[in-house]
Amino acid sequence: MKIQSALGITERFDRCVDAADLDRRARDLLKLRFRRSAEDLFAPLDELYGAHRDFAAVREELLAALVDAQRERPEALRLRDLACDLEPDWFLRPGMAGYVFYLDRFNGNLAGVLDKLDYLEELGVSYVHFMPCLKPRPGDSDGGYSVMDYREINPALGSMRDLETVTEALAARGMSVCLDLVLNHTAKEHAWAERARQGETAFQDFYWMFDDRKLPDAYDRTLVEVFPAHAPGNFTWHPDMGKWVWTTFNEHQWDLNWSNPRIFLEIVKVMLFLANRGVAVLRLDAVAFMWKRLGTRCQNEPEVHLILQALRAASRIVAPALIHKAEAIVSPRELIPYLGQGRHSGKEGNLAYHNSLMVQFWSSLASRQTSLMTHVLRTHFPESFVNATWGTYLRCHDDIGWAVTDEDATAVGLSGPRHRAFLADFYTGRHPGSFARGGDFQSDPGTGDRRTNGSCASLSGLETALESGDAEAIDAAVHRILMGHALIASFGGIPLIYMGDELGLLNDHSYERDPHLRHDGRWMHRPPMDWARAERRHDRSSIEGRIHGGIRHILARRRDTPHIHAANPTEILDPGIEGVFAFARRSPVGPLVCLFNFSDRWLSIPARQLAAAGVREWRDRLADVDVVLEDDTLPFPPQGRIWLS
Ligand code: GLC
Repeated sequence: MKIQSALGITERFDRCVDAADLDRRARDLLKLRFRRSAEDLFAPLDELYGAHRDFAAVREELLAALVDAQRERPEALRLRDLACDLEPDWFLRPGMAGYVFYLDRFNGNLAGVLDKLDYLEELGVSYVHFMPCLKPRPGDSDGGYSVMDYREINPALGSMRDLETVTEALAARGMSVCLDLVLNHTAKEHAWAERARQGETAFQDFYWMFDDRKLPDAYDRTLVEVFPAHAPGNFTWHPDMGKWVWTTFNEHQWDLNWSNPRIFLEIVKVMLFLANRGVAVLRLDAVAFMWKRLGTRCQNEPEVHLILQALRAASRIVAPALIHKAEAIVSPRELIPYLGQGRHSGKEGNLAYHNSLMVQFWSSLASRQTSLMTHVLRTHFPESFVNATWGTYLRCHDDIGWAVTDEDATAVGLSGPRHRAFLADFYTGRHPGSFARGGDFQSDPGTGDRRTNGSCASLSGLETALESGDAEAIDAAVHRILMGHALIASFGGIPLIYMGDELGLLNDHSYERDPHLRHDGRWMHRPPMDWARAERRHDRSSIEGRIHGGIRHILARRRDTPHIHAANPTEILDPGIEGVFAFARRSPVGPLVCLFNFSDRWLSIPARQLAAAGVREWRDRLADVDVVLEDDTLPFPPQGRIWLS
């Protein structure tokens, strides 16, 4: 961007600010923050839209929208903006831990959260993600990801006022709220889509529409299908309009046309509207798909990053207390830029899901081997990011895609196709000796790809163990679950606990009886909260007590272990012992060496090797006990986990 236009725009912004009903201090701060981020906002926008006929007008509207949003920002949130600007690492700290749930499945609706504040606080979470709760289309809404109104809450769950009440109540207990903002598409019932359908060309330009199959066919040559089994194809014919509409996901989810600067403007307004309701984290859904380019898969195109950087800059100007989480379930190479890289370091997303860590956890659990996990996490990921970190998780509401590349498999002597088939077989319980219970998802005979559904507990072996009543198998399943949580709590990032996993909730097949859900097997691992089982959480002899107590303990130890701060690099170690996964968190107070035993056997780790990795104290900071060495080795039980400083 040329200095000249930067100056021009700053002056124009100042004029908007001076005309607004804002007090002196708010004006000064807003101007300062504009100066901080104007370049980050307008350089990408110039690149994206500089040649677009509407851009000059949109740019002026954007300036006004930023000022309006600031004017509407409640005083308490302005104070939180200051706090977050003073302590920008607030979300990187060891005290952060997340809990993810559907409001209806948790406790009925938004107001129901107020009755469960003690439960959340006791678990030790500081961040709650309400799964999609903006007004969805009627009927099947892809779990709420088919939104017809971004400014309204799903009436079945409450109102915007309820959202504000709940975010305030949570904030008073130190908990932030994360909400989904779907960026790639709206429901076909959204007002924009309705107007497009009525023939308004300005709104047809909000989406990707084609009169005939020429371009769809051309794009289709390189596109892949996201839901090949239940929603094949990427385009949907609408006879009422006489147009093909781009629908990457379901037929009712119309892809937004981000090459139109008006979409950017509208989404900024929505984003700031939600920020002003007290939302602290926006989970930007399906971002990889936002930019279309002929001849490509239309995923992770460079323009996606420009858009996300510009969105980030807009929120830094108006609502610095808001952070952005990118939902991009893509390969490591494609994923890392979502957390900012090179000149964009610290300026794109603040959070992204560590899909590889999740996949590798399940892969090692099944194979009892860790060389692939060590190789992948060591080779493809930087040790730290600037002002950004991972969301670490074992399970979420989506299926698991066995994202292991042929190259990585070969590097450790495995066959990619065979290992992926093994994992799909293992986690559906088809592999002989498997402890897991799960279901196939979107099997694609063409590519041989099979994804997997299942709850954390069922995939970890709890369901089969309970059926057999084998105490040892139950024990192993509980330890697998706890080892996983100890892993995501120490790896670096915000550990995200998926509702029910803290109680060992099993696969739930009730969705098969619901006509709106039965086509989508992901509902298998979205069971309603079981409050009767939650009642048993303090009984340490019960399964619920062991898992809930174990996770509570892990989060409490995490809070007390400063090494875990997400800004501290995570160096993957190669212990050279098959079955052990290890990393060191390099912190100013010395390293924290974390080890996990994925094998079914007792292993011995030479003390010498641990000392070489920086261990100075023979104390396990996770169990909070001293470690007893035997013959200069550390005895390490199956499913063991240990944090040594
Ligand atoms: C994201 C969501 C997934 C949804 C898709 C389409 O991937 O996690 O549940 O189906 O976006 O919105």
